Amino acid sequence: MSADLSRLRIFENPDSASVCVASEMARLIRERASLGRSVVFGFATGETLVPLFAELVYLHQEEGLSFPNVVTFNLDEYLGLEAGDPRSLHAVMMRNLFDHLDIPAHNRHFLHSDLRPSAIKAHCAAYEAEIARAGGIDIQVLGIGRNGHIAFNEPGSPIDSRTRRVMLAGSTRVDAVSEFATLAQVPIAALTMGCGTILEARRLILMAWGAKKARIVRRAITGPVTAKLPASFLQSHPSAQVFLDPPAAAVLVRESR
Ligand code: GLP
Repeated sequence: MSADLSRLRIFENPDSASVCVASEMARLIRERASLGRSVVFGFATGETLVPLFAELVYLHQEEGLSFPNVVTFNLDEYLGLEAGDPRSLHAVMMRNLFDHLDIPAHNRHFLHSDLRPSAIKAHCAAYEAEIARAGGIDIQVLGIGRNGHIAFNEPGSPIDSRTRRVMLAGSTRVDAVSEFATLAQVPIAALTMGCGTILEARRLILMAWGAKKARIVRRAITGPVTAKLPASFLQSHPSAQVFLDPPAAAVLVRESR
């Protein structure tokens, strides 16, 4: 994705971008189903993915798209919440997507929130092994944090990092406060797929909407590849694309004139 911007796709709005991503996923689901094979998707949570989830649900409910051959891995999870806590990213995924699709329960994979500290390492290693057993991730969908994080890989996360426990950045906790009553209640730590894990997906699609993402998107796409801004690692991936709406693309477009 070097500074030539060739991997950049700008859409009229988040809905039209999400329709495009969903149709790519739908094509792959059908193609693999016709071969009797499964397809593996990686999902982020966050506001950015809500229109994509809505489109996938629409394709299932209105267009007859069926998901029995779909395997999923979620990117990240807060640490320290009870299993089933409505604020967990697992619960968010169920509400926004999985409750409305026919993906078999045993095909959906999540990092757990309620682990004893001594169980974390083995859990993360098992998650990596599960991804490998599934044949790797075909399409990984990503959002971007305003500090340039992907999943919960905060600035400083190495390019070869694997699934692990991380401490959340201050800005990430502030951005999560709307789901928790107070900042003090936002977890301080999380589990996340690593940058290396994410970069092994065969296809990466990063989506960002709105003016508040414009500056960080510009730095991720045209700035140096650096652990200070983990989303910049996508520049080194052979099949990464960035889907934007016009406000998120505004700084890039202005500077490329
Ligand atoms: C969160 C998640 C990411 C998400 C990002 C952007 O903290 N860990 O997976 O993509 O930040 O969130 P949003 O889409 O709500 O802006």
